[in-house]
This record gives sequence, C-alpha cells and structure tokens, in this order.
Amino acid sequence: MKVEERAIGVFDSGVGGLSVLAHIHALLPDERLIYVADSAFMPYGCKSDELVEERCMSIAAFFVEQSCKAIVVACNTATAVAVDRIRQKYDVPVIGMEPAVKPAVSHSLAGVVGVLATSATVASDKFKQLGLRHGADARLIVQACPGLVEQIEQGDLDGDQTRMLLHSYLDPLIEKGVDTLVLGCTHYPFVSHMIREIVGEDITVIDTGDAIARELRRQLLMSELLLLANDEKQDKPASIVFWSSGDVDKAEPLMSRLWGKATVPKQLLF
Ligand code: DGL
Repeated sequence: MKVEERAIGVFDSGVGGLSVLAHIHALLPDERLIYVADSAFMPYGCKSDELVEERCMSIAAFFVEQSCKAIVVACNTATAVAVDRIRQKYDVPVIGMEPAVKPAVSHSLAGVVGVLATSATVASDKFKQLGLRHGADARLIVQACPGLVEQIEQGDLDGDQTRMLLHSYLDPLIEKGVDTLVLGCTHYPFVSHMIREIVGEDITVIDTGDAIARELRRQLLMSELLLLANDEKQDKPASIVFWSSGDVDKAEPLMSRLWGKATVPKQLLF
C-alpha cells in the first residue's frame, strides 16, 4: 500500500482526543486520519489498568488491520497504562502523551506548577517518574479531577456544574500561587475558556496537543512515512473517518460540535 493511502490512527477514551486530532490535522492537512472514541468504556481515568490496557490493545490492533502507518494515543491515561505494550507489539511509530511537566517547569517564574489530570494518570508510575525527573526544579501541585471528563462527555462545556467542579479544583491551586498550569488530560482543552475565566490572565495554561502533532510529524519523517510535497495527493481534502464504540447516534452531535464540522461516526463493534 502506498504511503499516501495509509492513515494515521488516533484514539482516546472518548471525545477528548479530538483536541489533539485538531492539531494533527492543522499541521498535516494532507494526511488521512482515523479517529476512535472508545466511548463505551469512557472514562478510562477510573477503570482498572487491566481493562484500559485491553481496550488500548484492541484499538491498536484495529488500526493495524486498517493499515495505519502510525498510532497516536491521544489520551494521557491510556499512554500511562498501555503505550509501552503497544510499542512492543507493533512496528509502527506510536506517539503517546504525557502531561507537559517539563516545559511548564522551565516556564514557571514562581517555581510553582499546577497539573490537572485524571486520577489514573496521577496514580500511574509513569507520572510519578515524570514528577521525579522534572519536579526537582519547581514545586509541583498535582490535582486529580474526577468527574470533569464526564461533564465534557455530556457536552456541558459552559454550565454551572462544570464551573463549580473547575472552581473546586482550581481555587486551591490559585491560592498556592501556581503561575503555570498543565492540562494533563486531552478532554480539558474543551473547557479551557472556563479555566481561563477562573484563573485569570496571569497564569500560563499549557496544553500538549501541538507538541504531539509536531512529534508525530518528526517520527513520520524519520520513518519515511510522511507525505511529502511531491507525493501523489488526492484532489479532495484528505479523509478523516470517525469511529465510536458507544451509541453513535448520541456521539454524533457532540463529536460534530467539538470537531466544528458535521461528523458521522461509524459503529465500532468491539
Ligand atoms: N482524555 C483522557 C486523558 O487524556 C482521559 C479521559 C478518561 O478518563 O477517560 O487522560
């Protein structure tokens, strides 16, 4: 199969990874993309490692069956639990994500960095190691945010309940003097307008989507899998195919709203 016919597979527990997909599509507009929202098993953040790993391996197998040339784990929780196993099993570039602690620590003038993430990410060994590696130069204040992913999955991006939840997680961080805040879950950029409203203009908010898109580009280039200017391209825009393991009729309006264009997700049958 020609390189231009092979897609990049991107997945998350639900709609959160669409925030990463948007960065990938903006940077690599000619690349074909397949997005899987594992909505039937969302949220990953409060599931057992075994279940999350099993889901990730099934989705990775699906991407490989579809001849994907790279896999992006657009989920901090899934990366913490399963990225090593996916890399061991499949011989395609596998790009994972982790909370942007390193750039946040170098950016922080006050030396106080807040990290918002799911409970599973916070509890993972990978995250603990990240803290040990980069946390020595700043005070890291880690805040698990149970319930926030569910609010976003319900489409509550600006309601009172989401605002109250955000206040309960952000107010203590503001009181402790954080000047840099890491969004350690791919769902959270969808409420970044509310986060900004609560924390004000003086706190820098860091999202990792753009860095992941650039890392994907770098790895595709290194592996000679990147579409180059002289490669054969389709006349029409590159396709993006959406899948969901949940109820696709329910998924459609939210995915369309977050993607900013009508999307009709296909039904994932596993
Ligand atoms: N969006 C995912 C992340 O980045 C996790 C959401 C979930 O708990 O399912 O961690």
